[in-house]
Amino acid sequence: MCGIVGYVGRKQAGPLLLDGLSRLEYRGYDSAGIAVFREDGGISISKAVGKLSNLIKKTEGGALLPGRCGIGHTRWATHGAPSEQNAHPHVSMHGGVTLVHNGIIENDRELREELLGEGFRFYSETDTEVAANYIEHCFDRAEGEPKQAIRRFMERARGSYALAILFQGRADEIWAVRKDSPMIIGRGEDGCCLASDVQAILKYSDSVCYIGNREIARLTERGISFFDEKGRTIEKEMGRIEMDGRAAEKGIYPYFMLKEIHEQPAAVEETLRSMLRDGRISLSGIGISDSALQKLRSVWIVACGSAFYAGSALQYGIEALAGIPVRTELASEFRYRKPLLSSEDLVILISQSGETADTLAALREAKLRGASTLAIVNVPGSSIAREADYVLYTLAGPEVSVATTKAYSAQLMAGYILCLALARARGRLTRAEEERLTGALRELPEKISLCLSLSDSLSGIAERCRDARDVFFLGRGIDYAAGLEAALKLKELSYIHAEAYAAGELKHGAISLIEEGVPVIGILSQPELFEKMRSNMAEVKSRGGCLYALFMGKDKELLSGTDGSILLPETEPLFSASLSVIPLQLLAYRVSVLRGLDVDRPRNLAKSVTVE
Ligand code: F6R
Repeated sequence: MCGIVGYVGRKQAGPLLLDGLSRLEYRGYDSAGIAVFREDGGISISKAVGKLSNLIKKTEGGALLPGRCGIGHTRWATHGAPSEQNAHPHVSMHGGVTLVHNGIIENDRELREELLGEGFRFYSETDTEVAANYIEHCFDRAEGEPKQAIRRFMERARGSYALAILFQGRADEIWAVRKDSPMIIGRGEDGCCLASDVQAILKYSDSVCYIGNREIARLTERGISFFDEKGRTIEKEMGRIEMDGRAAEKGIYPYFMLKEIHEQPAAVEETLRSMLRDGRISLSGIGISDSALQKLRSVWIVACGSAFYAGSALQYGIEALAGIPVRTELASEFRYRKPLLSSEDLVILISQSGETADTLAALREAKLRGASTLAIVNVPGSSIAREADYVLYTLAGPEVSVATTKAYSAQLMAGYILCLALARARGRLTRAEEERLTGALRELPEKISLCLSLSDSLSGIAERCRDARDVFFLGRGIDYAAGLEAALKLKELSYIHAEAYAAGELKHGAISLIEEGVPVIGILSQPELFEKMRSNMAEVKSRGGCLYALFMGKDKELLSGTDGSILLPETEPLFSASLSVIPLQLLAYRVSVLRGLDVDRPRNLAKSVTVE
């Protein structure tokens, strides 16, 4: 959550910081601010509540804050309401330290008390102002030595932080430090920069480097120095950026979400292609051996939000094909449940950003308990990718819209690949069956394209949902898992209450919510469950629900009594979530547009959830 940027070099910092922030706005958009060193050595600060456009207007695109060294921030509020006072950058009481922060200082109350005792006073409710004052306090005691001051702060602060810091009197440098929150540093022709995410510095850097956990960096126009937590100089290699800057542009689409929905065939295809050797699935690239897969006693899938729902859909295939018990857990629950794990267990962590705090903590917990860990991650070099024993990258490319679409689809594909590799290694797949299933995977991108063309047939359902109070998704097995993702998409984008129900469970309580006209969307892709689904849908219809069916197969009987239907292309039932989710993403998109909402930046959300 929150995005930070910094720049020091020959160019004007203001416009560059605002441009960087515009690429980080998905991380939070409650308020934004920048701080720039002036020629006279003072620091100009400007902040604005709400979207970044307010700050851009207020600073005339950064022109009102001239200077060549500065930092910026876009906020997702944790401590303190979204207000100008709570917005970053924050300045210490005596003006010695100005900083921006991503993360949470967990012992901020304790530090605040201590500082109050030392005569410090606070103007905001934020943990970040506590950090600024604490560093200033240490700076004074360290006789004006930034590195020592930061080290002292690190010794005392608990929680997570990525900080970019300006010290008064050092107008040509930015100091940075991070613990459990992401930060990347770049070097370009004109200077050096830093950000929470590579997207923000892509334009300004020829080479980049991830600053490690508990490392400190000093950026000047001429270069970057790195130090470990003991203050010793460390050498770090800068790597080239291999990313297409166009991925961060909307192109012909009105919203990133729509663009990313349409990028799904490519995302899925690329992910599959990266794991094929001579036409067969191969995990050789990620280094996990068949003998390691053979020895496994159980698989756990741990993730948050949509990534968790991708895991929920994948568990069926892994159990059915690889014959191994699978447990799917929310990362925020898993990390505190003292899971019984051993070296015979594999914990699969799924994350688009690779930075989700709960998923990262779950990964560390799993490692501590001796399990092998495999991460399915989209962002190269992210914390989860770096810390897991094995990494299977989804090749969805940068995802900008806050609501995930293409990363979810690529996660499903990565999971299917893993599932086939596990089944084969464990001797549960004949060559013919492997070829059939691999063939079905190869066909998915084209079938996803066919699903994209169903967009227009969703207009009736979208109109019906537009003013609904509740919308229900019903399914069994994998269809239930797809419904969970569909409900999340609709909720977060349209602010309409939406819920997925395992179809057989509805009658145990929630059916009391079904009344005249409530939209209910049944998902039917599992032939052996069609009969049961039909009965459950009839129960809804007879209580007045407005019933739609999203179905696969030729059984037109499934449609009797529905108010509308969408026919999906057929695929292997274990892979059906990859197709059923597409019209449901488009539905959520359409409803959000109909309601006039900000599709790419729904309220209260941030893309990368780096707090607990
Ligand atoms: C929903 C959504 C979130 C994320 C979740 C996990 O559209 O995007 O639910 O799936 O916050 O994020 P990652 O995958 O980055 O760990």
